[in-house]
Amino acid sequence: MIDIHHHLIYGVDDGPQELAISLAMAHEAVDEGVTDIVCTPHASDTYPYQKALNQERLEELRSQLGNLVRLTLGCDFHLNGDNIIDALENPLSFSIDGKGYLLVELPEMVIPPQLTEAMRRLQGVGYTIVITHPERNQVLYQRHDLLAEWMRTGCLVQVTAGSLYGRFGKAAEAFSLELLERNWIHFIATDAHHPKWRPPHLKKAYDFVADKAGVETAQRLFVANPRAALEGSKWPQQPEPSGLWEYVPLKFDLSQIPRESKRTQLRRRTGLPGDEAESSKGFWGRIFGK
Ligand SMILES: [Fe+2]
Repeated sequence: MIDIHHHLIYGVDDGPQELAISLAMAHEAVDEGVTDIVCTPHASDTYPYQKALNQERLEELRSQLGNLVRLTLGCDFHLNGDNIIDALENPLSFSIDGKGYLLVELPEMVIPPQLTEAMRRLQGVGYTIVITHPERNQVLYQRHDLLAEWMRTGCLVQVTAGSLYGRFGKAAEAFSLELLERNWIHFIATDAHHPKWRPPHLKKAYDFVADKAGVETAQRLFVANPRAALEGSKWPQQPEPSGLWEYVPLKFDLSQIPRESKRTQLRRRTGLPGDEAESSKGFWGRIFGK
């Protein structure tokens, strides 16, 4: 399998902070059956993209890991003004291995109308946009027509592996299952950040997809499509997506999804049992968490 979204590089964003943790994550990914990892540090207001440092640490990881797993550089690209200008002025520079596929993270609370135009311009200079984890975006729960509009212009969709089996809550689970059913998913990736809290696990999701949608679909979402993005090669034939060119209402209904308590959300996010999760929040987290 090929994981196109993994925060493997240490000390550059909210992924691992030490080399040893990065190496542990790479080993865990290999144990899962991953042959290639695209390292995708954030480019955001909080974590500006440090090209030289990312490249330097990528080389360090490559030399430490040898032939165990192939590593490539990409980016978890947030659509803020500075990033968009930079990406337009330096075409393909944020894409996977400079070959054109760009992982784009949407804002979580509000999606301004200018965002569609920004994506169109990025496509105009050669990027193929991959919208990351729409199933975790609150706005799209009510506005899946936006996702359809972007897909009609050629945007692709990446879902987080853990969403399929409830690791990101009931809403993300239900939404991702509907996307799977509609053939609106092109990639499944880990978005790994940490061995425990956000682990690089793909196998469970692969088995889940193979069981629900067949091995052929699993191979497409975990191997063939990611390989095309990694190599910048010809985009493989895809099954017809349903409800893309004609309006089909979602079966997914947010009002029917039970709300989670703060404690459950925290336990889910950290992967720790209740009390441990509470103490892992840190000083400010404990204050604001209340
Ligand atoms: Fe990410």
